[in-house]
Amino acid sequence: ANDGYKLWLQYLPFENKAVAEYYRDYLENIVLIGNSPTHSVIQKELEIAIEGFFDMKNKPGINLNPSTALVWIGTEKELSKDILPELQSQINQLGDEGYILKYLHGKVIVTAKGNAGLLYGTFALLKQIQTREKLENLDILENPKIQLRLLNHWDNLNRTVERGYSGFSIWNWHRLPHHIDQQYIDYARANASIGINGTSITNVNANALVLTPEYLEKAAALADAFRPYGIKVYLTARFNAPMMLDNLSTADPLNPEVQDWWKKKTAEIYSYIPDFGGFLVKADSEGQPGPHNYGRTQADGANMLADAVKPFGGIVMWRAFVYNEKTPTDRIRQAYDEFKPLDGKFRDNVIVQVKNGPLDFQPREPFHPLFGAMSETPLMMEFQITKEYLGQETHWVNLATMWQEILQSDTYAKGKGSTVSKVLDGSLHEYKLTGIAGVSNIGTDRNWTGHHTAQGDWYSYGKLAWNPDSDIQKIGQDWLKMTFSTDSDFVKTAQGIMNQSYETLVNYMTPVGLHHIMARSHHWGPGPWVTGGERDDWTATYYHKVTKEAIGFDRTENGSNALAQYAPEWKAMWGNPETTPLEYLLWFHRVEWDKKLSTGNSLWDEIALRYQKGVEGARWMQSEWTKMNGKIDEERFSHISSFLAIQVKEAEWWRDACLLYFGQFSGIPLPAGVEAPK
Ligand code: GCU
Repeated sequence: ANDGYKLWLQYLPFENKAVAEYYRDYLENIVLIGNSPTHSVIQKELEIAIEGFFDMKNKPGINLNPSTALVWIGTEKELSKDILPELQSQINQLGDEGYILKYLHGKVIVTAKGNAGLLYGTFALLKQIQTREKLENLDILENPKIQLRLLNHWDNLNRTVERGYSGFSIWNWHRLPHHIDQQYIDYARANASIGINGTSITNVNANALVLTPEYLEKAAALADAFRPYGIKVYLTARFNAPMMLDNLSTADPLNPEVQDWWKKKTAEIYSYIPDFGGFLVKADSEGQPGPHNYGRTQADGANMLADAVKPFGGIVMWRAFVYNEKTPTDRIRQAYDEFKPLDGKFRDNVIVQVKNGPLDFQPREPFHPLFGAMSETPLMMEFQITKEYLGQETHWVNLATMWQEILQSDTYAKGKGSTVSKVLDGSLHEYKLTGIAGVSNIGTDRNWTGHHTAQGDWYSYGKLAWNPDSDIQKIGQDWLKMTFSTDSDFVKTAQGIMNQSYETLVNYMTPVGLHHIMARSHHWGPGPWVTGGERDDWTATYYHKVTKEAIGFDRTENGSNALAQYAPEWKAMWGNPETTPLEYLLWFHRVEWDKKLSTGNSLWDEIALRYQKGVEGARWMQSEWTKMNGKIDEERFSHISSFLAIQVKEAEWWRDACLLYFGQFSGIPLPAGVEAPK
């Protein structure tokens, strides 16, 4: 049995004697040089791994006799003098968190400048063994391409999780600070193994209480637990906290009393958490207070907090997810309209956090137009690992496919090849600060993420955060091997499913550029009929604008002109329905039902056929998975099987609901090949 708690750190037993014998020499002859809390966790991790690989209760002791050691783990300062000179030129290329993994004269060397790098290097070595790679060819030098690699937990202090579908928050505030649950340690191990170096532990819809001593003490206990793993803690700051906690009459960022309050509060936080990372802020959006309440700009707000954390080396991650339902312009334009004029007006310890697309984590959106448009202000990416709009925890969809599509999108900011990934790694605009955040999908479920395969989204997020240009096929293979089995048949079939899963989901939910047609508020299941209510932009009809003649949102200059926020290359392509890829057609255009598309189908037929294709894709995923019976443990096999059955049912539900609803407008019968709605 396997409940999935160990994630990709299963350290599955060697499958036969030959494999075990090959690695035994190395694993029984490791020398770990040096002493620090991080060295202790490295030692512990090696023991856990060895115990798993050899399937044994009595782990072999780690040999501490350097003369016979075959694996050497130590920072550059700790490494033996005879090895050092040969590695010097490579060591010179290392950044603070980078590592070297190299086979040299019959020995495996793991080295780094600092402790975090050494831990990453150790995990990289263990990954080689988990994926059964030979060690004799090792020659790896890695530095992370992005500095701040964070998880954002939308966890509330009462342990509910906003948009969380895997149980409750793993932060047990009630038992903190005195009880450090093993799950916090395993969380830190998992994150360190993929290079995540920061965590914002509270919801962006923030509760000011977390800034009070009672909670700071608890947050500090988490920070202490995470520190040996190279992970810093960040907190969300509610903008009107001075009013809520200390009855100030205003939270105006230009008011000296308010500024002073934040300075004192920040000093207090650092007295609890000396390496506190800084604040994450959602302001002026969806009911959150912010600088707008005082007629101030987003820069005024961010800079006030930046000044407070600056003396301590902290940063402010200021979210660009700012919009106001009372503003009459197209909602997706608003962040750019607001932030673009502020380019260059932020302090140097502010980084603006931008969602991947301009609307809100839809199954498919074009990249956010702010990427490439802010040459003087560092931007960081916000991806959503939790699948709020993508079927939530029961649908299997490989998010790396979607993220890669965004990361490799060309902004054309400095000509062809100006990809979003180059904005994020800082190379395009020479940003001094670089970052990426993933909204966590973790909860108290025994397997952390609800769907076993959603563990893979957490994993691949970390890998893409380390290097946004990584090969997602390799990421997927490694994750499958480490998590389930190294059996090549299994890996091939499971990866085949993963590769089809994203397009399949888009087809059965929002094909041809449809968006935000989910049911209201909880966003689970279809709801294209949702109208009325207190806000236009919370109704599905706002986004698809269906009539008997046509469907889609005109964002060209004849419509909202949101398209104007993109580079001329995109304006040319997306401005014309004939040259707009079908994936984005109804995102940018209103199109008549009987319009003939590049596929030869009418728009109505194309939509219907794609819904059908999505359903067939989900069924195919299910039947492929059935073949994996016996290839992995029964417990996880059946868990995934039962979720696939839900996915197929819900894909049919999406197809039937959307076609029945839109069909009332198109008035055209379903084309051949599309099953009649049940
Ligand atoms: C989405 C989500 C909200 C969340 C918001 C945000 O709109 O539905 O629950 O608070 O994003 O990112 O701030």
